[in-house]
Amino acid sequence: MKVPEGAKQTKYKTTFVCVKNGVEKEFDENNYPYNDTTWVFKDSRQEILEQGYEPPIHDFSITDGETGEDLTQQILDKKGYTFLLVAPYLETADDSNFDEINHIYEYAKANGYAFYGLTASTEKGIGHWRDITGAEYPFYITDGITLKTVIRSSPGLVLLYQGTIINKWSQNDLPTAGRLNAPLSLIQEGHEPENHTWMKIVLIIICYILPLILLIITDRIWAWTQWVKKREEWVKQKEQSNRLYQLIKRKRQMRKKIVAGNWKMNETLQEGIALAKEINESLKAEKPNCDVVICTPFIHLASVAGVLDSGIVGLGAENCADKEKGAYTGEVSAAMVKSTGAQYVILGHSERRQYYGETAEILKEKVKLALANGLKVIFCCGETLEEREAEKQNEVVKAELDGSVFNLTAEEWKSIILAYEPIWAIGTGKTATSDQAQEMLAYIRSIVAEKYGKEVAEETSILYGGSCKASNAPELFSKPDIDGGLIGGASLKAADFKGIIDAWKK
Ligand code: PGA
Repeated sequence: MKVPEGAKQTKYKTTFVCVKNGVEKEFDENNYPYNDTTWVFKDSRQEILEQGYEPPIHDFSITDGETGEDLTQQILDKKGYTFLLVAPYLETADDSNFDEINHIYEYAKANGYAFYGLTASTEKGIGHWRDITGAEYPFYITDGITLKTVIRSSPGLVLLYQGTIINKWSQNDLPTAGRLNAPLSLIQEGHEPENHTWMKIVLIIICYILPLILLIITDRIWAWTQWVKKREEWVKQKEQSNRLYQLIKRKRQMRKKIVAGNWKMNETLQEGIALAKEINESLKAEKPNCDVVICTPFIHLASVAGVLDSGIVGLGAENCADKEKGAYTGEVSAAMVKSTGAQYVILGHSERRQYYGETAEILKEKVKLALANGLKVIFCCGETLEEREAEKQNEVVKAELDGSVFNLTAEEWKSIILAYEPIWAIGTGKTATSDQAQEMLAYIRSIVAEKYGKEVAEETSILYGGSCKASNAPELFSKPDIDGGLIGGASLKAADFKGIIDAWKK
């Protein structure tokens, strides 16, 4: 036992008063009559041999009685629970509950808890206790007075948790078997150990698992809402593109399909009238599925207008002047064309550009005057063979449109019909393949869309011209951007022309 500096070691002597036949006698630890049961224990007395320092509880010291080794730190530092059976003097300790004590010892052993007896008695006293109680637990030695300050009862039971007293029981109130089976009930409220397993589990659940679950749930909910949002956007986009597609489809279906004949410089007046009559009659007999127009030389216009059923066959000129009126010998104005009953005029034909030097500027004037006079313009564009071989067809066509018609207002544009006629295919018998024609017409529609918007582009009729005949017309007209044909040679025979018109029925 550690004695503070300056303090005097306290010395005690314990005596045990026993009675036999009314006679009292005092024994000490050395001569106590363990084996003589005729002596009845009455009292124990402590005699202070030397007045001085009384040890406080923090000076608690535990010694192995046999080896003299100081076990204090070892026991107090022990992890987990430790039961201490405290009996200052085993000679006088109450042995009536030894069964319960032994039971608690068994329980401690089974659960891996330490269980020690602490006493101030000698080996003899300890041996006596073992004999009468059958105790198997080890006894260590502690100062008797100190033990009495720990618990009044002798014996008494103390439960330590890592060196701290967390519960005490007097020998009359030892924990029952039921309470022992629920070890936590042995621990006083408010003294629960910090690292108890279930506490750890609860803490792990609260600190890690629960937040993790919440995080996962939040993440899933967020992902789900994002998915729903994306889906809604996708559905909206799909509906929009469906609507646009339907609109385009409708526009495409509504777009005028046209087959226009270009007689060029062919047919006398009488021949022309006869041809016009024949075409008119055959279409009257069998209604076409498209608009039909015949474009004739100026001198035929008035007479042909007289033989055509205007509801069935439209009439157009092949050219008009770039001047309104006046001293332009040999020229025919847009107003004059209109006055014959014609509704259309072909402008920008490659033959006019090539042989009569019609520039984009001149054509721009012609288009302006034709529209101003209420004529619909079939505006031609197309590249030469060299230009196609140099892959300049898009560039050439765009420049032709830019130069003469892309200046028009959207309103004026409604009276424009475009005709793509590759020069290398006109009158040569060399038709552009349907794919070549489709590719070019799709390109033309795309530049119209750039200029006037998708809807206007979808409403614009674009024709293909160049060696188009009854035999190749169905294939050409099956392409989505080809809205009909401008027919030269094949428009000079009613049957051939009708054959092309009928391609729209296939
Ligand atoms: P083509 O002529 O059909 O004889 O090739 C077409 C045109 O020049 O319009």
